[in-house]
Amino acid sequence: MIDKQAKPFLKWAGGKTQLIESIEKALPKEITKKKFTYIEPFIGSGAILFWMLGKFSNLEKAVINDINEDLINTYKAIANYPNELIAILNEFQLEYHAINEDEEAKKEYYYIKRDLYNTRNTSLSTQAALFIFLNRTCFNGLYRVNRNNLFNVPSGKYNKPTICDEQNIFTVSAALQKVELLHGDYENTLNHASANTIFYLDPPYKPLSNTSSFNSYAKDDFNDAEQIRLRDFCNSLNVLGHKWILSNSDVKGKDINDNFFDEIYDACKIAA
Ligand SMILES: C[S@@+](CC[C@H](N)C(=O)[O-])C[C@H]1O[C@@H](n2cnc3c(N)ncnc32)[C@H](O)[C@@H]1O
Repeated sequence: MIDKQAKPFLKWAGGKTQLIESIEKALPKEITKKKFTYIEPFIGSGAILFWMLGKFSNLEKAVINDINEDLINTYKAIANYPNELIAILNEFQLEYHAINEDEEAKKEYYYIKRDLYNTRNTSLSTQAALFIFLNRTCFNGLYRVNRNNLFNVPSGKYNKPTICDEQNIFTVSAALQKVELLHGDYENTLNHASANTIFYLDPPYKPLSNTSSFNSYAKDDFNDAEQIRLRDFCNSLNVLGHKWILSNSDVKGKDINDNFFDEIYDACKIAA
């Protein structure tokens, strides 16, 4: 039993805490009245997952997935080794807070940790602790890698950031006990659906302008062809009788003549 509400342990581009109310309204009531499976193929920081786990006691099984293997490994470390992870994070926090007044020393500390992270040659718990540390101390909490999968976000400027939120890590760890953790392309999650399943899909956004594309830095671009492949995946969900909700950017709000989503999802209900 989870006695406290778990919340995202990362800052993540496109985090969905703000959308909880709209998603609650869109949830098909018949699904959540009995035991159901919840699948989130683009998990990111998991705002909707944690809300669902806290809200619905008849959520029998959850399956989460992301193409970012380091992110999924961080979930695995929290699920399986919370004590070990907390011990390492506490050490990082102590060291970082001790040099709080010295911006140069903090920068140097950050780059040493970033280099260590990029070796990808540490234990699962250390790698997860590094992932969380970098997320808390890098510029804007971004996650960006180069073509060689090396994390390349510069250091940020923070005054004693929380690096180890011990209570939340334990709460998240407990919540993850009924969650299956997958890494790879979202299509793989289809095999995990059961009779009463709801998918929540929150893919990388279609950029609102040529310059706002945060995903143009990513290793694998989620371009228009990818958005159409995802639409086809949603069509397969329909054929199999699974329910789904998808969120994306409001391209029409930016340019009234941009009908991209209206056209590809012409058979669906689009809520503002
Ligand atoms: C908009 S974010 C999801 C944000 C999440 N809802 C939250 O609250 O933080 C999109 C996620 O999709 C992942 N992703 C990109 N391409 C993917 C693919 N082909 N299959 C699975 N995940 C993918 C990215 O790594 C990123 O974490």
